[in-house]
Amino acid sequence: MITIKEYFDAHQGNMIYKWAHYFDIYERHFKRFANLDRQVVVVEIGVLNGGSLQLWKKYFGSKVLIYGIDIHADCLKYQEDQINIKIGSSADANFLKQLKEEIPKIDILIDDGSHRMNHQIKAFVNLWDHVNENGCYLVEDTHTSYWNDFGGGKGRSGTFINFSKNLVDSIHAWYSEQAYFINDKYTKTLSSIHYYDSIVVFEKCPLKSKPVTLKSGIDTTTNNRIIRHHNIRKSLVYRFTYQALRLFNKLLQFLKIRGVILNG
Ligand SMILES: C[S@@+](CC[C@H](N)C(=O)[O-])C[C@H]1O[C@@H](n2cnc3c(N)ncnc32)[C@H](O)[C@@H]1O
Repeated sequence: MITIKEYFDAHQGNMIYKWAHYFDIYERHFKRFANLDRQVVVVEIGVLNGGSLQLWKKYFGSKVLIYGIDIHADCLKYQEDQINIKIGSSADANFLKQLKEEIPKIDILIDDGSHRMNHQIKAFVNLWDHVNENGCYLVEDTHTSYWNDFGGGKGRSGTFINFSKNLVDSIHAWYSEQAYFINDKYTKTLSSIHYYDSIVVFEKCPLKSKPVTLKSGIDTTTNNRIIRHHNIRKSLVYRFTYQALRLFNKLLQFLKIRGVILNG
């Protein structure tokens, strides 16, 4: 199978503009969609010369349907068989709403548009619902989260990287002990987030319900050491101390101070 980088190296069409280290990341996340026996829908925000759209067409094969999005109407000239261009901004919620009405559900979304914080976040928030189960959402050039001119900067609020870190929390909301932190749509649909130098990849899964644990094999923990430990845990002094520490831990959590470990 020909890799994306090999197609890129042999490319004679319109200019493609990518960082060299992105190709391994693309390969890792996009491979499972290549040459499928069904329609695969790829959307790329940011067309420029239309070269990357031609690259996706070669790599994903004859069944792929590609949509390029750009703010410049000039990009319409890059339409060709299997490649459609939509003109609008990734920061415009109305445009994105209309886009969702016009195009099928997306298997792969690549955000290579303005790389501005609010644009990346708006696009993600508006388009995530339109990504297929088992689809993939890839945001490029996330180093702009550290560039002042793009709205970035270490520790600055509102960066895309900080937004994505909150989604790490959402994945774990099932286990929350805080009333203000509850399940959201990402808890149920976001299976994983992959951080790379300048790229974040979000993988979508079929609607999840609360995770469960499973056991198999024989439980051999009924030895004396375990029984002794169990008896200590049943004692009044232990239970009182444990509850007091739990309360104290809650207070520390409320104050966002590192807690004491209370693993039973
Ligand atoms: C880095 S270039 C895209 C490069 C192209 N994907 C490639 O790999 O060759 C960024 C493109 O995003 C477009 N753009 C900038 N802001 C945008 C926005 N808010 N919405 C959609 N496209 C935008 C620019 O016009 C430009 O063509």
